[in-house]
Amino acid sequence: MISVALEKAGADCINISAGLRESDHPLHDQTMASPRGSWVYMAEGIKKTVNIPVMVAKRIDEDMVEKIVAGGQADFVCIGRPYITDPDYGNKLLEGRAGEILPCIWCAQGCFDILWMLSPTTCLVNPAASRMDEVPIDDLGKTSKKKKVLVAGGGPAGCEAALVAAKRGHDVTLYEKGNRLGGAYRLAAASPSKMEVERLFSYYERTLPRAGVKIFLETEATAESMKKEKPDAAFIAVGTRPVIPKKIQGAKGPNVVSAEDVMSGRVQAGNRIVIWTCSHHCSFSCKATIAPIDGDLTNMHSTCSYACRAGYAAVDTAEYLASQGKLVNIVTERNAVVPGMGFTSRGYLLKRFFRANIRVCSNAKVKEINDRGILLEKAGITFLLDADTIIISVGETLDNDLAETLKDQIREVYAIGDCHRIGNAMTAIQSAYNEAVRI
Ligand SMILES: Cc1cc2nc3c(=O)[nH]c(=O)nc-3n(C[C@H](O)[C@H](O)[C@H](O)COP(=O)(O)OP(=O)(O)OC[C@H]3O[C@@H](n4cnc5c(N)ncnc54)[C@H](O)[C@@H]3O)c2cc1C
Ligand SMILES: Cc1cc2nc3c(=O)[nH]c(=O)nc-3n(C[C@H](O)[C@H](O)[C@H](O)COP(=O)(O)O)c2cc1C
Ligand code: SF4
Repeated sequence: MISVALEKAGADCINISAGLRESDHPLHDQTMASPRGSWVYMAEGIKKTVNIPVMVAKRIDEDMVEKIVAGGQADFVCIGRPYITDPDYGNKLLEGRAGEILPCIWCAQGCFDILWMLSPTTCLVNPAASRMDEVPIDDLGKTSKKKKVLVAGGGPAGCEAALVAAKRGHDVTLYEKGNRLGGAYRLAAASPSKMEVERLFSYYERTLPRAGVKIFLETEATAESMKKEKPDAAFIAVGTRPVIPKKIQGAKGPNVVSAEDVMSGRVQAGNRIVIWTCSHHCSFSCKATIAPIDGDLTNMHSTCSYACRAGYAAVDTAEYLASQGKLVNIVTERNAVVPGMGFTSRGYLLKRFFRANIRVCSNAKVKEINDRGILLEKAGITFLLDADTIIISVGETLDNDLAETLKDQIREVYAIGDCHRIGNAMTAIQSAYNEAVRI
């Protein structure tokens, strides 16, 4: 009815790009948690009622564009974020090179999350986005001095460093001790809300060999093996080790596992789960609060989305287990769970928690873990939260042994990603890019 009235009033076209963040409509979600092409059904319906062109926006991937138009569901398709990840998106699509597109994963982390913090937007998968010195992602500038480059670790940081170095003309070899690329971030794809993460690593898997990177999976890089290769430069991107709060009795008990154990399928969790995260054991300054900001819509007093690896791992594990019908409680010693996560991502996350019956107990002090669950103190009351499995994701420590050992033995050694500074996939890719673009 509204569309018909708009046409009668003289509208030239209608663009379906609907939704308010405050809306409870599950399809409005602009993150990867919503289905692709959420609004196509709406455009299709409206198109039947009007004679003016109908456009549709949001969460449309490269495979859908042609089908939507050819199938008569809409007259135009609007693409937003995929142009931030790859400014050459349209040309690649028109030239039949869709496989070369650096894909948007609709994480919202580098764009919407940062935008709401009133800072210039960037992109998780394309760290060059929005930089004044931005260079096309496929034309990074060839090196004048080709180097032999080794990369230890095939997580986001290692993949990005290898790709950028190879595109610049270096001779690159990457070692990953696991059986696939992706590191910790690829584990997120097990969550029903994060499956799009897989797109990034499919891209690296397609593009790294094409760029000439030699990849050795199930190959642990050691100081000896790397030295023997006599490289000119080495990127160390081996990630972190989880913090185990040793002073808490039971923290090493048989009912205690890590988020990565669960997300990788290494262990099966019971039916009643407690996830302990965002504690004072975390060294990462989540939500680095600064002075009040003029016009701060989020009230987060931060200009950056800061959630760290342990926080992300905790909340994804919660959704993953809740989707299997398990009862999930999150315990945090801070006043909120993942307080540093950006406004768009966190808002939708908490809404999904509500629907999935994932409960958060904040401002709780962990006293002890025993075979019945986790003993907490909150507001002066001590109580036991029953659990079959307790997942500890309270923080990470740098894994910098390899970088430290090699720094006097290889001419150029760059520790990148979480093993250099604990952060998240976005900071890991940024740090890899920043170093690899310069060597
Ligand atoms: C479940 C989960 C969900 C997450 N969700 C998000 C999110 O939504 N957004 C976000 O920004 N961040 C998220 N994170 C955090 C993010 O995954 C990490 O911050 C990021 O992966 C760090 O990248 P990295 O390459 O530095 O290290 P890692 O991803 O840890 O990769 C290190 C790699 O090195 C390999 N390795 C280690 N030692 C060696 C060796 N000696 N030789 C060869 N290989 C070695 C490891 O096997 C691993 O593959 C999540 C993490 C988890 C666990
Ligand atoms: C950083 C950013 C800012 C945006 N700002 C607005 C805005 O102010 N008003 C609006 O109607 N749409 C805005 N959009 C939405 C886009 O116009 C477009 O409809 C949307 O990004 C398309 O969906 P997609 O990004 O999933 O392809 C914004 C998008 C991004 C990424
Ligand atoms: S930050 Fe995430 S959602 Fe935004 S453009 Fe980049 S990949 Fe897409």
